[in-house]
Amino acid sequence: MQPLLEGKTIALLFFNPSLRTRTSFEIGAFHLGAHAVVLEPGKSSWEMAFTEGEAMTGDAEEHVREAARVLSRYCDLIAVRCFPKFQDWGVDLEDRVLQGFARHATVPVINMETIVHPCQELAHALALQDHMSELAGKKYVLTWTYHPKPLNTAVANSSLLIATKLGMDVTLLCPDERYILDPVFMSDAQKNAHTSGGTITVSHDIEHAYKDADVVYAKSWGSLAMYGDWESERAVRDQYKHFIVDEQKMSLTNDAVFSHCLPARRNVKATDAVMDSPKSLIIEEAENRLHVQKALMAALCGAHTPATAI
Ligand code: CP
Repeated sequence: MQPLLEGKTIALLFFNPSLRTRTSFEIGAFHLGAHAVVLEPGKSSWEMAFTEGEAMTGDAEEHVREAARVLSRYCDLIAVRCFPKFQDWGVDLEDRVLQGFARHATVPVINMETIVHPCQELAHALALQDHMSELAGKKYVLTWTYHPKPLNTAVANSSLLIATKLGMDVTLLCPDERYILDPVFMSDAQKNAHTSGGTITVSHDIEHAYKDADVVYAKSWGSLAMYGDWESERAVRDQYKHFIVDEQKMSLTNDAVFSHCLPARRNVKATDAVMDSPKSLIIEEAENRLHVQKALMAALCGAHTPATAI
């Protein structure tokens, strides 16, 4: 443990639940000699408003304009987790909560998962680098998996972004075109691939996608094409339970490593055999959250850095 951040403080704002993110940030801060304060707006701290110019007649008692500036007087870093509201993708894509903090805070702001999950993508990249001598040119499959609820696209977006940055040949495997990710992230992934020498393709063919894969990364997400109409989407999603990652599919690969950001429903997203396989990186990837976030906090706090969001 190196007390690189002795005497520093970080506010961790959780609008949604967490096991890994909360624990790894709190313990990471402790390892660095810093102190972390966890706030849960709407529970243990005041509910907040984020719309500019609104009359605050609802349940919110304070606006991000004050909350971000007050926390900036107490803390050296602010970190925010706020998932989409799952009603209107156009609104969720604006990432209003994170952007509100980034706009009004005077200290760096870390994204702990909103519409992307950059800390997860760093931990994922580290796990892959630890297991594979060279990542460029390797076949990377991000596979959609079934889940009984529509989930956030954040990890899937981040997976495409990091794998294309690393020059991998990326396949986005999803049931049909309604599950393709937002054009903003598809386009950014395409640009990354162009720069890194990698590729990105979309496939709806399970066997073709798994064939000769070096990495299989699993995630479930709700259809953006049916966003907010979740009863209709459920009827579509329920047809695709066979997207589970199992031994038969993994046998088509080039002895691929498997990973998932966790939490993951066993025998729904991936079978016990895959989750517990020697090729499974799920626990290492989770451990890496601690290492990469310590590096991130030290980098953002250790030198004068203007307020920004990652
Ligand atoms: N992967 C991840 O962010 O886990 P938590 O939701 O438990 O923080």
